[in-house]
Amino acid sequence: MKMTAVVCVLALLAGVTASRGGVAAEEATAMYYASLDGLGGPTGACGYGEIGITYNMGYVAAVSDPMWNNGLACGSCYQVTCNVSGVCNSEGVRVVVTDAGNGDGSNSTAFVLSQRALQGMAVPAMAFQLTQMGPVGISYHRVPCVYAGAGGSRKLAVKVTDQSRFPDYLSVVVLYQAGEYDLLQVKVLDRTANQWIGVPHSYGAVFALADPPTASPVTLLLEFKGEEGKEKGVFHLVHIPQHWTPGAEYDTRVSL
Ligand SMILES: *[C@@H]1O[C@H](CO)[C@@H](O)[C@H](O)[C@H]1NC(C)=O
Ligand SMILES: *[C@@H]1O[C@H](CO)[C@@H](O)[C@H](O)[C@H]1NC(C)=O
Repeated sequence: MKMTAVVCVLALLAGVTASRGGVAAEEATAMYYASLDGLGGPTGACGYGEIGITYNMGYVAAVSDPMWNNGLACGSCYQVTCNVSGVCNSEGVRVVVTDAGNGDGSNSTAFVLSQRALQGMAVPAMAFQLTQMGPVGISYHRVPCVYAGAGGSRKLAVKVTDQSRFPDYLSVVVLYQAGEYDLLQVKVLDRTANQWIGVPHSYGAVFALADPPTASPVTLLLEFKGEEGKEKGVFHLVHIPQHWTPGAEYDTRVSL
């Protein structure tokens, strides 16, 4: 019995980089994109728009194709730690995915970080050096994330995008996902036929429907991928007013 336990521990130590919380960390490389303010940008492929600049205080990232997964990656959060000794700190940074990007064109560059995020991985005096190094080795794992906001953390929200036209074109982007669940699909309740209609995935975290139901309120169902190994998804209903407004953000009370 004792023998078995010892063997298991050794096997773990020899395996993939261990990380806190027992989640296996993956290894890859990361690059960064320079910008004047070091924050995110307004044109990220997730469709967060202007909000994307200051999202998660500018600790944002673009991910390469395999992780991007046609936008499923939007809103997922990762703890990313670089591995250059003497340059990188041991905690790394917590980033949220807001964009798609292949860095140097190889899929091994998993992340293209904002400048602030890259520099957040450095020990205090080495932030500039880290930006001069080109692709750096990293390890990363999925984590939850919290969005600071006035009066507590921001909860999951649905924003009616500026591309929407009341009443005949409803386009929504899902904001402030808590990082650990993937948004699989969005449906809207047709109260007349009493059935759910799929809202087609437009791009990133944006879903859009022509001629949406007009009964009050407009009820959206967001389905997230459940925990690993569990078949069932996680569902959440969001009610937006019958007379929704392009550009308006509708908050929920949940963190998901
Ligand atoms: C990168 O990943 C994508 C999607 O998984 C794949 O189609 C592509 O061939 C990969 N590119 C390289 C250079 O490996
Ligand atoms: C850092 O990560 C890169 C990419 O995964 C790897 O090739 C390299 O060996 C790592 N360096 C150290 C010191 O662990």
